[in-house]
Amino acid sequence: MRAIRVGAQRGPAPGGAETVQTVESVESVGAETVQTVESVGAVRAWSADPYAEALHTERGPLFLRRPDGWLLPLEVERWCAEADAADLEVLRRCEGAVLDVGCGPGRLLTALAAQGRSALGIDVSEAAVSRAVRRGGQALHRSVFDPLPGTGRWGTALLLDGNIGIGGDPSALLARLARLLAPGRLLLAETAPLPDLDERVTVQVTGARGTPGSPFPWARLGTAALLRYAGEAGWRTEADWTSGGRSFVALRTGPATSRR
Ligand SMILES: C[S@@+](CC[C@H](N)C(=O)[O-])C[C@H]1O[C@@H](n2cnc3c(N)ncnc32)[C@H](O)[C@@H]1O
Repeated sequence: MRAIRVGAQRGPAPGGAETVQTVESVESVGAETVQTVESVGAVRAWSADPYAEALHTERGPLFLRRPDGWLLPLEVERWCAEADAADLEVLRRCEGAVLDVGCGPGRLLTALAAQGRSALGIDVSEAAVSRAVRRGGQALHRSVFDPLPGTGRWGTALLLDGNIGIGGDPSALLARLARLLAPGRLLLAETAPLPDLDERVTVQVTGARGTPGSPFPWARLGTAALLRYAGEAGWRTEADWTSGGRSFVALRTGPATSRR
């Protein structure tokens, strides 16, 4: 696997735990064509006021609102804080260069940089990306379904904090991540606490007051449900665990390669 260097954005370069052989700038990705499965509404919704405002104040309340009125709390305070013990347990499993999908304000990027690991965050929210960069992470304002640097060469992809829901179609997201990762590399994903939960819904980001954002597709999956989708798509389950009241899985795509 060629190494990936993620050094084309503002902010300090990550430390030297990984030998960098190839320099790839973020401008050099244009040739990749990607089927976008996500609605424009999703990009607009996460870019809109309720989320940007919550990131600005570093506090909620903020929710994903289902059409039946049910509210899923979004843990803005935790995302704006430092990585906690459960996060660090996930990060200890990372291999190679890390792509943090839906990086939000970047607590995981900061922790990875502190460990000297090469990492890039991507997020459709401009407010999230600028906070992540201000915190010393490397991040791009991009959807996971857009052309991305290092396609086919990432060592680890992260999908934490419910981000398995991105796009509202878990099979499409898994297929996209399988293309982004190098063969035999790792997806670390957080799942919903109910193992069999398999929900695809239309949601809006909303605060306690004010106008909710545009509706967009989202998914929530428990561990058993995610493992079913992953198994059907040829991923291998490496581990599943709980920590700090949260559930996680480690999945490996394609044939195994030697680990660092
Ligand atoms: C549930 S929040 C998770 C926050 C985050 N993991 C953190 O550490 O703060 C979902 C995040 O995914 C981002 N997002 C939504 N759709 C996306 C997409 N298609 N590609 C990349 N990021 C996306 C949102 O802007 C938001 O920051």
